[in-house]
Amino acid sequence: MRPVILLLCLLQAVQSSVLQTRLQAMLTELAALAEVALNQSVALQIGWYGSTDHFTVAAGTVDVHGSQRNVTTEDTFLYGSGTKPFTAAALMRLIDQGKIKASDRAHIHIDPYLRANNGTELKELFGPEVHNATVLDLIRMSAGIPDFEAGSRDAYILQEGSRVWPVYDNIRYAAAYQEEYGGTCKAAEDCDCGQLPPLAKAFCEPRQEKCMKVGQYLGCLGRPNGFPLPGGWVCWNKMRVGFCPTRVKSSPLVCAPGACSFYSSASYELAGLLIAAVGVPDGKYTDMDLGNFTLPSRDDYPTLTFPPVTRTTHSEVASMKLSDHLSVPGHAALFGGSGTVVFDQNPTVLGWTCGHMIGAAGDVAKFFFDLFSPKSARRIVSNASLAEMTRTAPLSMGWGTHIEYGAGIMAVPVSNNASYWPENTSQWGFFLGHGGMTYGFSSNQGYISLADAGFSDFEHRYSIIIQLGSLQGHGDCCRSS
Ligand SMILES: *[C@@H]1O[C@H](CO)[C@@H](O)[C@H](O)[C@H]1NC(C)=O
Ligand SMILES: *[C@@H]1O[C@H](CO)[C@@H](O)[C@H](O)[C@H]1NC(C)=O
Ligand SMILES: *[C@@H]1O[C@H](CO)[C@@H](O)[C@H](O)[C@H]1NC(C)=O
Ligand SMILES: *[C@@H]1O[C@H](CO)[C@@H](O)[C@H](O)[C@H]1NC(C)=O
Ligand SMILES: *[C@@H]1O[C@H](CO)[C@@H](O)[C@H](O)[C@H]1NC(C)=O
Ligand SMILES: *[C@@H]1O[C@H](CO)[C@@H](O)[C@H](O)[C@H]1NC(C)=O
Ligand SMILES: *[C@@H]1O[C@H](CO)[C@@H](O)[C@H](O)[C@H]1NC(C)=O
Ligand SMILES: *[C@@H]1O[C@H](CO)[C@@H](O)[C@H](O)[C@H]1NC(C)=O
Repeated sequence: MRPVILLLCLLQAVQSSVLQTRLQAMLTELAALAEVALNQSVALQIGWYGSTDHFTVAAGTVDVHGSQRNVTTEDTFLYGSGTKPFTAAALMRLIDQGKIKASDRAHIHIDPYLRANNGTELKELFGPEVHNATVLDLIRMSAGIPDFEAGSRDAYILQEGSRVWPVYDNIRYAAAYQEEYGGTCKAAEDCDCGQLPPLAKAFCEPRQEKCMKVGQYLGCLGRPNGFPLPGGWVCWNKMRVGFCPTRVKSSPLVCAPGACSFYSSASYELAGLLIAAVGVPDGKYTDMDLGNFTLPSRDDYPTLTFPPVTRTTHSEVASMKLSDHLSVPGHAALFGGSGTVVFDQNPTVLGWTCGHMIGAAGDVAKFFFDLFSPKSARRIVSNASLAEMTRTAPLSMGWGTHIEYGAGIMAVPVSNNASYWPENTSQWGFFLGHGGMTYGFSSNQGYISLADAGFSDFEHRYSIIIQLGSLQGHGDCCRSS
């Protein structure tokens, strides 16, 4: 968030004629400070696109396999969940074109495709209630679909980053994890922790009513909280702890469709399957190029790619790498800095339509300008669709209840003034966009990037993308801060 706050200060202080110079100076200083503090190369970009001016500034260095160079404005980064507005916009465009309706039940479109490509239907994975989920529910996070970024999933994906992680695998995992771990308990008897090692016991964590196991473990001495161990354990306060299944299985949905909203990247993968079902009904999911559905013209955003795409490249997914499109390596810093370099992994580690965009900040800024500004000559969606995307409310369940979510657009409060904090979107200080990075959640997937988008209203409408590469912390593909 900090760079956004710095930007807001700058926006209030200077005219746009000097903005580029000031942003460049700020970014150069920030990159130098960060490289010293982190003792590793840090790459930064800011893309700016307004109705009267647009530019990209970049600072820092890129280290590709040990060879260093300065970052450029053409360098490409990962956006993680910053992809979700693109997926949501692609779906809204299909609605605008009359190919589907927002109120259609999603399974009607997805089931024939899922049957043909993975031998199943939504109700077999998520139970019969899923039939009430609408097209719009999928991108508003209100279809009741659980997330696949649960348990140790992110860690496994990163550990085996060179294999293919099909979208069907993620969706199946999300449903299975929810069935097993989604239930609540009143007492330890409700828990099924299996055979526990000596000095370990099962208990029902009273606040969240979740089944857990806890035990003494010498291997956790000197380990930071959250250090992952085999068997679903992590170190916590010198002990090891982990979640257990409940004896009674949960529904594979987190709630009945429409009855709650819950941050779920799997919901965005279903949205992707719906776009594929309508857009390339005879093709594999990797034949669907999201850019072709969300961008009015590909040539206007030359750096944006959404891998893997097999239809035009005719190559096998297994032979693809992020670095086919990505030019800046990231460091997924596992606890204590044992960072995995994110660069040569298979692009399926990004989770497809919940987080697979690669590109330069300038083109992403341009997209948000085109999405939001009435002055754009390349409008992405209709006014009605934009109104739907920006109709936000706090998510009602899960870790994201502080997030004001619409249809692929978050309203993010920002303030640099200790005595002013905007409380709702009718007050000044909200950005409309999407986070693309995580702090404080247990995830190792990904690239350390921060993508923020927004516009401010005082003179023109602007779109700002800040892209930080190679920062320490943990990031993931699909969650957002
Ligand atoms: C900084 O990193 C280099 C190589 O990556 C290492 O040799 C050096 O010891 C590090 N310095 C500090 C202060 O950690
Ligand atoms: C890299 O950037 C630094 C500072 O921005 C500059 O002094 C240096 O000349 C640049 N190096 C190259 C090879 O362009
Ligand atoms: C469906 O996808 C899963 C996960 O990729 C895979 O294991 C399974 O074999 C697929 N089933 C069919 C019938 O294609
Ligand atoms: C769908 O919702 C309606 C109205 O809430 C309900 O009566 C019906 O049982 C639901 N259908 C399924 C399959 O859950
Ligand atoms: C995407 O659109 C371009 C032209 O705009 C076309 O050449 C290409 O085949 C399309 N790709 C897919 C996968 O549909
Ligand atoms: C869409 O809204 C903008 C103002 O926000 C207005 O200028 C424009 O005429 C509207 N377009 C249509 C087709 O209604
Ligand atoms: C901070 O917010 C308060 C309350 O809205 C306002 O009175 C004050 O002028 C603001 N300070 C600055 C520096 O904008
Ligand atoms: C937004 O928050 C402000 C400050 O708490 C309040 O005065 C206003 O009524 C709120 N507006 C809405 C639409 O909730």
